[in-house]
Amino acid sequence: MQIITEPAEMQVIAEKLRLNRQLIGVIMTMGALHEGHLSLVKLARESAGTVILTIFVNPIQFGPDEDLHRYPRPFEQDVALARSAGVDYLFAPEASSIYPDHFQTTLQCGKLGEHFEGKQRPGHFNGVATIVSKLFNITKPHRAIFGEKDAQQLAIIRQLVTDLNMDITIVPAPIVREENGLAVSSRNIYLSSDERHKAGIIYQVLCHAEKRMAGDEKNLQSIAQEVEEMISSTPGCRCDYVIFVDEKSFELAEKAEQGREYRLLIAAFCGNVRLIDNVKIRA
Ligand code: PAF
Repeated sequence: MQIITEPAEMQVIAEKLRLNRQLIGVIMTMGALHEGHLSLVKLARESAGTVILTIFVNPIQFGPDEDLHRYPRPFEQDVALARSAGVDYLFAPEASSIYPDHFQTTLQCGKLGEHFEGKQRPGHFNGVATIVSKLFNITKPHRAIFGEKDAQQLAIIRQLVTDLNMDITIVPAPIVREENGLAVSSRNIYLSSDERHKAGIIYQVLCHAEKRMAGDEKNLQSIAQEVEEMISSTPGCRCDYVIFVDEKSFELAEKAEQGREYRLLIAAFCGNVRLIDNVKIRA
């Protein structure tokens, strides 16, 4: 595995790979790699000839109250994990080479970036769209693998690729879960063992919602209410939002139509740790 830090060098390598008809798959991360990221690498390995993994803690997607400087950066450990997972190129630039002095062009996601996670973190998705576009231009992938765990981010990146006519296939990767169903996330390390155990309720309610819809319940709001009550009655847990959206438009959905796909999005606190999770359900 080769480690590259300069955008121009990465671009030359990517161009050569393309000229040699290599199919490039990219996985973008902010480091602190875990099982979830490694499952994306596995998916990339299965569908692309060359795998590029990027590690960059993107300052412009952090709000003023979010502690960018405390974000974990276990670089040596990440290098070892990436190497053993079969990554070919690790692109890990310095912030100064991505955002040099006088940098001024950023992307606006529009409506999709304003709701749900975007409401909680204003400007976050504009920062994500900007860095993802830059990393696309630097790594020149044919395929990009993004986890379904960050469902809104995935929807925004799909929209970005469509809106800006980017010739890149976005490959969604299924959520990786711990034994009790808790979605694997870098935030899980902040949970106490008791909170980690209780956080399993989130997966249980997602399964409950799936069953209710399989049982032909069409009122999505009443399912969301049941889910909210189940989470809130778990000691130490509370909901931030429980929402059904249409899988295609990512707009709020209240009544299910037969055969259509929806996504149930949950943001909930277990102790002080805010967790997000979701499931796609066909009515
Ligand atoms: O999902 C993440 O880790 C980040 O938002 C991403 C896509 C790497 C952009 O910084």
